[in-house]
Amino acid sequence: MNLLLFGPPGVGKGTQGQRLARELGVAHLAMGDLLREAVRQGTEAGKKAKAYMEAGELVPDELVVRMIEDKIRNVSGFLLDGFPRNVPQAEALDAMLDRLGLRLDAIIFMDASEETLLQRLSGRLICRACGFGFHRHYSPPKISGVCDHCGGELYQREDDREEVIAGRLRVYREQTTPLLSYYSKRPVFGKVDANGAPDEVYEKLLEVVKQADG
Ligand code: AP5
Repeated sequence: MNLLLFGPPGVGKGTQGQRLARELGVAHLAMGDLLREAVRQGTEAGKKAKAYMEAGELVPDELVVRMIEDKIRNVSGFLLDGFPRNVPQAEALDAMLDRLGLRLDAIIFMDASEETLLQRLSGRLICRACGFGFHRHYSPPKISGVCDHCGGELYQREDDREEVIAGRLRVYREQTTPLLSYYSKRPVFGKVDANGAPDEVYEKLLEVVKQADG
């Protein structure tokens, strides 16, 4: 299966995407993770992306389109998380899938209240070593500052600082919400209310995937 998850920053795309991709046996292609890894490794793409990411702005389209195409070509089944993020990227994705003879089997929009998004983003902690995500209040690590899974150090993302979050939500409203009209008329489109607890949201996602597949 090939799936696409989109929605505002902090709605839970990464948390749910990871779980869903594992369950369906497909690759979890998270654009933000790919970019952060490129920054960490100091690649040419990473050097270009760094300043945009720290400011909460979108990285230029041609760079992210190239990165995602490289990944899509090398996996069998994928779940896209964080790509596309504007209409030109969605058009580039359609053209790319046509060229590769692939299609999207489910396109899922996740949404939550602004209050929920702010709480989730401002409390998020990530493991520097394995990338696993925690939350100060909703899913705290057993030992403060230490990853339960690998013992790595937990940190707050640069763009999860309060002053950057506001900008990311503005970028989302201006550039990503037009994807709703781009995708919502397609038969494989579904919408999930992501305000609830992780397991509750996951069940809703599975339901939408089944419907789209069925
Ligand atoms: P990216 O990393 O994709 O950030 P984002 O879309 O802003 O999404 P987040 O990762 O912040 O949130 P999420 O929805 O994955 O939530 P999560 O599951 O972590 O992108 C970062 C930057 O990269 C962008 O700003 C841009 O610069 C660049 N970029 C990326 N893609 C690009 C593109 N296509 N084009 C151009 N530039 C691009 O959950 C958040 C927290 O809440 C966690 O702590 C989690 O534990 C907790 N949580 C999750 N679900 C629940 C729940 N149900 N209940 C309680 N807590 C929950």
